[in-house]
Amino acid sequence: MLYNVFYVKYKQTIIIKSKEVMGKITAAITAVGGYVPEYVLTNAELETMVETNDEWIVSRTGIKERRILKKEGEGTSYIAIKAGKEIIKKSGIDPKDIDLVIVTTITPDLMVASTAAYVATGIGATNAFGYDVSAACSGFLYGLSTGAAFIEAGRYKKVLVIGADKMSSIIDYTDRNTCIIFGDGGAGVLLEPNDEGLGLLDEHLRSDGAGRDFLRIEAGGSIMPITHETLDAGKQYVYQDGKTVFKHAVKNMADSAELIMKRNNLSAEDVAWLAPHQANKRIIDATRSRAGLDNDKVMINIHKFGNTTNGTIPLLFWDYEDKLKKGDNIVIAAFGGGFTWGAQYLKWAY
Ligand code: UT7
Repeated sequence: MLYNVFYVKYKQTIIIKSKEVMGKITAAITAVGGYVPEYVLTNAELETMVETNDEWIVSRTGIKERRILKKEGEGTSYIAIKAGKEIIKKSGIDPKDIDLVIVTTITPDLMVASTAAYVATGIGATNAFGYDVSAACSGFLYGLSTGAAFIEAGRYKKVLVIGADKMSSIIDYTDRNTCIIFGDGGAGVLLEPNDEGLGLLDEHLRSDGAGRDFLRIEAGGSIMPITHETLDAGKQYVYQDGKTVFKHAVKNMADSAELIMKRNNLSAEDVAWLAPHQANKRIIDATRSRAGLDNDKVMINIHKFGNTTNGTIPLLFWDYEDKLKKGDNIVIAAFGGGFTWGAQYLKWAY
């Protein structure tokens, strides 16, 4: 058991049991909502678009199909609003009581206006403020960290963190290195204060900007504004050096998950679920193996949704919600462009 020790005047020692007795406020997930578009892009359809085949895609990535948002004039907010509305419906909260909406995304509706502000308005959270967090595939972990910090500090009581991406808007469907991997979708969680020791309990988050050359969109930012030339060269699309990203993802996701388990004295038996970013089934397997977990403790939906970037981890919660139990120890791990990566430890709250 953890103790906080305070040495006070007259050499008196006061030992206070941490968390429980101190009534430390943690940020607990109290509801989940999600959305994936109806259109299913199968490996068979991809075979008609690029030189690839179902056997290669399934054996190298584990992906069988992914969802694509085909609605004219709709962007990531369409997905996030659907997820947000489901959270409100399931939790029964009044949207006017929401304090903050964080949307983690790399495909904002617009480059300047915050997608989260639009989502907050779209779900009726008229007393909230909203902003986006951009950290590629680790974005949901960073967003969870930010939202939880506000709750732990006592500043806000109801925070929505929604991870969503319309990856089809930035993918080149003639590039077989990327188009077979990504899909559209998203989900989110409601964070509320908890004094029972449930919710987000620990995290290890890191980034390394030296990695940005290996996974990026070159044009459209401040270094290289879009021109006719950049468009002709396809620089508005995601570029990925798959092998390099793969190597870093395997090492850092596995290292982070192992570190967070050790630091919290969690054995494989103590962990109910691993929720790994869904980038590639082989990366998921490597992380699972390092954590010493059996397959049945690993949340997986990469086969049906592919890599939805910010959507993967909350979509896992959405998919597995009916299997989760109050008090379950969950380890989250992710790696993405930037590079960004990390792991979090949370106790499920319902
Ligand atoms: O979520 C953010 C982080 N992203 C990731 O974590 C993704 C990390 N990387 C990966 O998941 C993998 O590197 C990929 C799935 C992108 C690629 O798999 P790989 O096993 O690293 O394949 P590779 O790029 O080394 O290519 C192997 C072979 C090559 O052919 P040769 O040179 O051996 O003849 C490729 O040209 O497979 C070929 N290839 C394909 N064949 C059929 C590459 N893409 C395809 C394809 N279909 N779609």
